[in-house]
Amino acid sequence: MQIAYFKSAKKLITGNGAIKTLTDELVRLGIKNPAVITDKGVTQSGGLTIVTDHLTPGSFVICDDIPPEPEVSVIESCVDKLRGKNVDGVIAVGGGSAIDSAKAIAVSMGLKGSISSLFGEDKVLARDIPLIAIPTTAGTGSEVTNIAILSDPEDQLKKGIVSEYLLPDVAIVAAEMTVSCPANVTAASGVDALVHALEAYLSVNASAITDALAIKAISLIYPALPKAYADGSDLKAREAMATGSLLAGLAFGNAGVGAVHALAYPLGGRFHLSHGMSNAVMLPHVMKVNAQACQARFVDIAKAIGLEVHNRSAQQITASVLNAIEQICRDVEIPATLRHFDIPEEAIPTLAIEASKVTRLLRNNPRKLSVEDIEGIYRSAF
Ligand SMILES: NC(=O)c1ccc[n+]([C@@H]2O[C@H](COP(=O)([O-])OP(=O)(O)OC[C@H]3O[C@@H](n4cnc5c(N)ncnc54)[C@H](O)[C@@H]3O)[C@@H](O)[C@H]2O)c1
Ligand SMILES: [Fe+2]
Repeated sequence: MQIAYFKSAKKLITGNGAIKTLTDELVRLGIKNPAVITDKGVTQSGGLTIVTDHLTPGSFVICDDIPPEPEVSVIESCVDKLRGKNVDGVIAVGGGSAIDSAKAIAVSMGLKGSISSLFGEDKVLARDIPLIAIPTTAGTGSEVTNIAILSDPEDQLKKGIVSEYLLPDVAIVAAEMTVSCPANVTAASGVDALVHALEAYLSVNASAITDALAIKAISLIYPALPKAYADGSDLKAREAMATGSLLAGLAFGNAGVGAVHALAYPLGGRFHLSHGMSNAVMLPHVMKVNAQACQARFVDIAKAIGLEVHNRSAQQITASVLNAIEQICRDVEIPATLRHFDIPEEAIPTLAIEASKVTRLLRNNPRKLSVEDIEGIYRSAF
């Protein structure tokens, strides 16, 4: 058995009404003047008010300028706005975009150099103020991971800051925060959560702990996602998604994600597809290639999603899992081809070269992929 570490937010608070615990957590962490990092969609849907109702009026600063898939410059202007305001803690309220921004802001408040200097692994040297994450999508799992992903328009790439200083002190995961999530975001971030669990389960760095989390996440997300998509007010489905995405975040935050994410990154960086959409469009094609290397794991996945496994060969079961993955993407109406997103076929060789450089993720993948393999996968998704 290889050595495995397990990292997470320090405290996880889950369940309906969990937002009520925010007041006590602020006292415990000594936060008197927090910055609340969020976006306009969450503000307009009422999600922000659910949180600020638990804050002392006049004691907090709101930064709601975070766009989806934020760029470095957005973080820089938030940090400028917050400096000199005696901010002593950060509360993220939103999807992955707001949480990742809040993470980057929290480690940049005392930073002298540019935020770009933090891209890569372990470049952050400190975080001086506490961080609380409250997700409103289900979701990226960012509330429990050590990564913040930002767009770098100069290089047309999405880049990660990876550091243990990004792990929040507290993650409050309450399904009611996700009820207002629009159907298209429910679909994209929900498939992202499923990909986190699948890639963590197939990762070469999977451990007994991440396996347990990933399989449970798959069994929760697979049946719940189409229901949450079809009826956003279905609280049972929203609860299963909130828990499933949290478990998937814990799994991939430690086992890592693989080639689906590596091939999705250039689609976001160059063609501005959302993170969830780019993962969803690559998912069936990468899984097809990976399946040849780990059929036993596909049998476990089949059991987790309730497929028939008795008297069937591993090959037949694997084929059923691949069909089921394609089906769930259809159920939540995610387009199946790159062509649909107006990505030109001529871009494929460049995309393949860029994806092959995402070695941080490709090294977790159960199959080693050459640039030619990657190009072939993009072509099959075209
Ligand atoms: N750090 C990590 O571990 C990690 C993992 C996966 C993805 N990500 C990053 O997360 C980002 C994507 O995050 P996301 O999929 O959660 O979407 P998002 O945060 O980009 O939000 C998408 C849209 O949904 C709206 N929205 C979110 N919650 C809502 C709610 N409850 N009600 C109404 N509107 C709501 C937002 O206003 C926004 O317009 C990407 O930048 C991706 O790279 C990070
Ligand atoms: Fe993801």
